[in-house]
Amino acid sequence: MSVTVKKSEQLRGEIYIPGDKSISHRAVIFNSMSNSTKNSIRNFLPGEDCYSTINIMRQLGVDISIENDKNNNPVIIVNGVGLDGFHEPTSILNCGNSGTTTRLISGALAGRDFISILSGDHSLNSRPMGRIIQPLSEMGAKIFGRENNSFAPLVFAGGSLNSINYKMPVASAQIKSCIIIAALRANGITKISQTALSRDHSERMLLAMGAKVTQDKLDIYVEPSEIHSIDVDVPGDISSAAFWMIAGICHPDSELLLKNVGVNRTRSGIITILKKMNAKIEILNKKDVAGEPVADIYVRTSDLIATEISGDIIPLLIDEIPIIALAASFAEGVTIIKNAEELRVKESDRITTTVTFLKSCGVEIYSTKDGMIITGNPDLSLRYGSFSSEMDHRITMTMAIAGLLSSNGVNIIDSKTANVSYPNFWDQLSKLGAKIE
Ligand code: S3P
Repeated sequence: MSVTVKKSEQLRGEIYIPGDKSISHRAVIFNSMSNSTKNSIRNFLPGEDCYSTINIMRQLGVDISIENDKNNNPVIIVNGVGLDGFHEPTSILNCGNSGTTTRLISGALAGRDFISILSGDHSLNSRPMGRIIQPLSEMGAKIFGRENNSFAPLVFAGGSLNSINYKMPVASAQIKSCIIIAALRANGITKISQTALSRDHSERMLLAMGAKVTQDKLDIYVEPSEIHSIDVDVPGDISSAAFWMIAGICHPDSELLLKNVGVNRTRSGIITILKKMNAKIEILNKKDVAGEPVADIYVRTSDLIATEISGDIIPLLIDEIPIIALAASFAEGVTIIKNAEELRVKESDRITTTVTFLKSCGVEIYSTKDGMIITGNPDLSLRYGSFSSEMDHRITMTMAIAGLLSSNGVNIIDSKTANVSYPNFWDQLSKLGAKIE
């Protein structure tokens, strides 16, 4: 479906941010592997990616139902089967577009006494899987992937799991979580050494569930352990809030309050960078919800200055780089983004999709091997165009926010892809007063 988003005169209002995608996946997978029944997950993200995870858990024999609470909000009820309770699935497990589903569930399928196959859409089956096949095979799992064990479909064919000492080649929470999940069922203590911090939702949730997961600076130790379920109230996704942060900061007449945003320090690199860029951004009402920090974020029209984004902060804002690039287009000076080569293996090659899109809108931007260089212009007037996001949900939403800030609008050809991570994105955009045709 194609939509055109046009400039709005004013942006004012409150937005309740939907549940965090990473935490929603983990709440379903870990509660499925727990040894207790009737665990509830509230504010679960009803996006396509998270439903892929629920469907696969069901195919593995987990009873998961969706009920409504007294305010008519959906609650996911998971009846755990224990670490060893999965059954052999009778058909291929479809991960859709979801890298998190594929990589985390790979850790759960490794070394089982049954055969299973994970596959997904064209984008997913083109993303690198050698990075999880290699450590899981080192642990003793029998796994096969397309093109010499590089890509999905992935076939899991048994084996038994030993502990390993693993030095991670890239800072990736998906690889880390995959190994942690397998290590819960291995014989011995697994050590995972990270090159830099990445999101730590798995470590936090598993610890709260009684797993023996400890951390010493960048090293993580996992002892085989049973896990007990917990009820999870999922905080709002800072990666979804990011679109409104940039809209609120870059729009010439705006003031937005973003409610219930997860601000875990391994996810909030965008706040650090926006403050460095001189953005008017305030963190209000900070509290702890089920082991994760949550706050409201207040943003206003700001005069941005350029910055450099590189090094250890990259994994802490990896999914926000396309929308940060849009903000940098309005900043005074030259913004340099480097050490972000992981963007090339996301749902699309996000260095190419971001740069191609912004360049077509008239931004002075070019790509480098591991990032991009943007010469900002506070008086920028984004040009009209009709664009495809290459079926990448975060690029689709970046294009929509660009439309809101443009002179004559932006037409997005594949608008439905936002459903992957933000099913009510278009509703919330129109409630803010955006003109969508
Ligand atoms: C995720 C980790 C990140 C992120 C993805 C979700 C997760 O990927 O890009 O959207 O839930 O663990 P990497 O860890 O591979 O960088």
